[in-house]
Amino acid sequence: MNKSRIPGFYKLSPEERLKKVKELARLSGEEADILKKTGSLDIESADKMLENVVGTIELPLGLAVNFLINGKDYLVPMAIEESSVVAAASKAAKIARINGGFEAESTKPHMIGQIQITDLENVELAKDKIENKKQEILKLANEQDPVLVDLGGGAKDLEVREIHTESGKMLIVHLIVDTRDAMGANAVNTMVEAVAPMIEGISGGNVVLRIISNLADRRMAKAKAVFDKEELGGEEVVERIIKAYHFASSDPYRCATHNKGIMNGIQSVALATGNDTRALEAGAHAYAAIQGGYDSLTSWRKNEDGDLIGEIEIPIAVGTIGGATKVNPVSKVCLKILNVNSSRELSEVMAAVGLAQNLAALRALASEGIQRGHMRLHARNIAATAGAEGDLIDKVADRMIEEDDIGSDRAMEILEELKE
Ligand code: MEV
Repeated sequence: MNKSRIPGFYKLSPEERLKKVKELARLSGEEADILKKTGSLDIESADKMLENVVGTIELPLGLAVNFLINGKDYLVPMAIEESSVVAAASKAAKIARINGGFEAESTKPHMIGQIQITDLENVELAKDKIENKKQEILKLANEQDPVLVDLGGGAKDLEVREIHTESGKMLIVHLIVDTRDAMGANAVNTMVEAVAPMIEGISGGNVVLRIISNLADRRMAKAKAVFDKEELGGEEVVERIIKAYHFASSDPYRCATHNKGIMNGIQSVALATGNDTRALEAGAHAYAAIQGGYDSLTSWRKNEDGDLIGEIEIPIAVGTIGGATKVNPVSKVCLKILNVNSSRELSEVMAAVGLAQNLAALRALASEGIQRGHMRLHARNIAATAGAEGDLIDKVADRMIEEDDIGSDRAMEILEELKE
């Protein structure tokens, strides 16, 4: 099992960190080299992924530490261009550890495929007819993917919804497909396209669209953690975090930013593991609005001891097989480091990371504000660029912050002084 509690991980050089993760995740020399080498996604592989390829683009890949989820330690790979995100997630996970880390769970990996039927003379009758032929439709859907069926997945259910639109009444058939460890868009789209003519015949209407729904509310992940009030900065900070949550929950202008912070964490893991970030983003925000208003994906309250309880509930449609996870060598190594055994386990980790990210943002916003943390990272970067190493990085950064003078000239001066 990976040990995710690595004190001072952030103080090591990238080389030293890589050595550590190689040891912990039992990476081969070749796998470690994939992470080290820039341009690990070679142009030939990239050319197979999309059209008109002219190159690849890279992002920094960091590891969030301290994540203890359902009693298992995780080193969490996160790819993102924004500083502070990885440090913030690690910090929140460290606080959660005090009370046993995160409890997470997920539903079965069920995705919805939609078939739109229009121009129906008798909507009620067509609905009954489709429902009566459910077994035949499921059988035809499952014939499209015997491998998935062998693995225990496949089309499991069918539901028919009536909707009222500007073009009149329509029936929307939902094919519920268990996609196992794949994200499943290909499997679902193949199935809905295959059963559409049959459904058209049964209903007597016209089928227009046949496509997966990214509102994956049958594929939910939940996580919960208790955050120690003293570690958060005391009772007042807890109160202020709860007020910040109530603000988000009552105001879409704030809530968009609040949920964006959650997605900072979730999308970084999605990118690192080769998953479809746009599908996740669409699903998350649609789910946040499913009750009619746009709401927070997390909720926050106090327990009797005054500690902060956080919960997240979010659709997470991700895969550990297929798609970019198969083609991009970096994603493969990231999945090995994360050490998850299924798409459900990956979704649980991502939910925990989203919750941690939200906590870290709320804690900073409800106390010193977000800029100080950013400033600190900025100061450390300047110190390192000026030549500081090891403990000296923090010492130089601290002095610059104290003096409110963060710049490379000052960093070099302080470094000279400290060396003397
Ligand atoms: C920045 O990327 C994310 C935050 O704005 C989230 C939030 O405001 O809760 C800090």
